[in-house]
Amino acid sequence: MSINRRNILKYGAAGAAFLAAPFSLKVSQASPDFFSITAAPIKKSLMGAGGPLSDLWLYDGQTPGPEIRIKQGEYVMARLVNELEEPTTIHWHGIRIDNAMDGVPGLTQQAVMPGETFDYYFLAPDAGTYYYHSHNKTWSQVARGLYGPLIIEEKDEIFDKDHDLTLIIDDWRIGQDGKLDLASLGSMMDWSHGGRLGNLLTVNSQNQPSFKLNAGEDYRLRLINAANSRILEIDPSRFDAKILAYDGQSIGEPKKLSYSPLLLGPAQRVDLLITPKAGGDFSLEELSSGQAYAFANFEIVGEKSVTPSLKQLPLNSIPEPDIKNAKIFPLKMSGGAMRRVGDIYYQGKKLQGDDFRNTGQVWAFNGVANLPEKPFFTVKQGETVIIETINDTNFIHAMHVHGHHFRVIDRSGSDIDEGNPWRDTFLIGSEQTVKIAFVADNKGKWLYHCHMLEHAAAGMITWFEVV
Ligand code: C2O
Ligand code: CU
Repeated sequence: MSINRRNILKYGAAGAAFLAAPFSLKVSQASPDFFSITAAPIKKSLMGAGGPLSDLWLYDGQTPGPEIRIKQGEYVMARLVNELEEPTTIHWHGIRIDNAMDGVPGLTQQAVMPGETFDYYFLAPDAGTYYYHSHNKTWSQVARGLYGPLIIEEKDEIFDKDHDLTLIIDDWRIGQDGKLDLASLGSMMDWSHGGRLGNLLTVNSQNQPSFKLNAGEDYRLRLINAANSRILEIDPSRFDAKILAYDGQSIGEPKKLSYSPLLLGPAQRVDLLITPKAGGDFSLEELSSGQAYAFANFEIVGEKSVTPSLKQLPLNSIPEPDIKNAKIFPLKMSGGAMRRVGDIYYQGKKLQGDDFRNTGQVWAFNGVANLPEKPFFTVKQGETVIIETINDTNFIHAMHVHGHHFRVIDRSGSDIDEGNPWRDTFLIGSEQTVKIAFVADNKGKWLYHCHMLEHAAAGMITWFEVV
């Protein structure tokens, strides 16, 4: 089943009646306008029809989970039904969301127990490409398939549905038997190094799918990196694509990248504009191995000639940070393999010897592994925050702020990102210091964590509060 506007309440139609309603509606009071989304185990082949069956955990039995599509300014009303054997939640990644709906167990809600449900009800303020995923035992639940696209359409249609393609990319780790490798989930080797990397790169769970596009027409490709830890390297200029948006946020006038490759870290998104030429078949290639690997193929049909595209996406309205009056919070990342770990405190206690293996905690922010009891910082709503992240580890990381989009304002040893776009996740190299700035305009308790899911589980996660 695809979830479309039909089963989602429109903002304006009956939305007003809900404005005063409490945010966690009890099931018994839930309106029939909630669509349900069921997390459950299922056996499926990842190796094409007839292949060995993997033990997956999916939303509505599909990988990726059903595409949720609404228009900007409408509400998402989703009832999560948990048919897993573990507690779970849904996080709506990149949405500047009501805090109570952010889906973080232990911080914004209780995890949803097996057999229970939770009603998510929130306004989608910004158009763009987002996704949703489990936020409990994320390193395991997302690796088993609990994610799906969340598309917030612009108020006025810019690309119709035939010219708007979602490509959600994942790298699965497949064992010798052709099934999803479950035995290696939680491997300390992955947790202390670069995270869990897979060996099967899929688009919408398909191995090297093909798409047919018409020559001379404008298309929007929404690329979403749903991998646990892999950074994808792609070169949009190889097929004459322009950037429309990063992490859901339009950049205004579409631009060609002046460099290559584009790094798409875990949880990052990029929207591309392409107007294929007649006969101009092309592939999306992943370049990180040094050898181009074509993971999706595009066949161009028809003869229409290309006219310069006038398409662009409207900007969402996000408050500009007030850098002069900002509060600055430094955060030092430490730990991991190939470094002296230094002092790491976990649950108030200094880790030593076997503690690292026993707790699985090997990374820290400002010397603390995992969620501290007290927030990393507290600010008043409306204040500008600068987080200065100092990567004192041997690895690259993908840092994500919940509930806000930010701009990178400084990146040591390199230019700031071209066009200085809004983002919700940024990459930070080993030994690099990156400053991001945003207006903390969204009240509540928000995570700041590495989106390499093994790193988050092994300590790289903290939170801040906007009051
Ligand atoms: Cu997409 Cu806290 O994550
Ligand atoms: Cu990391």
